[in-house]
Amino acid sequence: MKFFIDTANLAQIKEANELGILDGVTTNPSLMAKEGIKGEEAVRNHYKTICEMVDGDISAEVISTDFNGIVEEGKILAAIHPNIVVKVPMIKDGVKALKWFTDNGIKTNCTLVFSAGQAILAAKAGATYVSPFVGRIDDGNWDGMELIGQIAQIYSLQGFKTQILAASIRSSLHIVRAAELGADVCTCPLEPILGLLKHPLTDIGLAKFLEDAKKMKQ
Ligand code: E4P
Repeated sequence: MKFFIDTANLAQIKEANELGILDGVTTNPSLMAKEGIKGEEAVRNHYKTICEMVDGDISAEVISTDFNGIVEEGKILAAIHPNIVVKVPMIKDGVKALKWFTDNGIKTNCTLVFSAGQAILAAKAGATYVSPFVGRIDDGNWDGMELIGQIAQIYSLQGFKTQILAASIRSSLHIVRAAELGADVCTCPLEPILGLLKHPLTDIGLAKFLEDAKKMKQ
């Protein structure tokens, strides 16, 4: 399973990248706004900086909602760097645009996916990635991880090549569950990634080893 970090914060991207386990980055307009990025040029420059920091797929989201707008915006984003993946919302014109990008060799990430039916459409349109939003489904008292399992089963049965990108991940346990259920990618904030490191028995064991190591010194 690939690890993407879900942020536009350069310090957090750097920290995750330095761990050596980062395969890419996902962003969205809310994450970009949170970093105070304003204006089209600043947005493009920010994506370029991220692409230069991380050697992997970088999702950049369109904000147009009509076919022509999505395609034009996507072309501009894709021209920033070969690693840019155009992130397209799961709407009717989005599906049409996904197919256009597929036919024109531009990688895509279909975002805001909340059902297996939507995931089938994204795969039919040739999306590189499909992003089911696990945490937001959980927020509504449904089991987001169930959707990951369902999509994994359908894609495997039908031979769809679209990669399942478990998104809206809120905890380290979500990451483990996504891996168990066959997600190809997991995108999450830095915190749940670092949370995977933690186990009290590791801390206790290390403290004991270091204490005993002192006895070996002359
Ligand atoms: C995915 O690509 C989205 O940017 C993201 O995972 C949404 O997460 P949230 O539900 O925590 O905002």
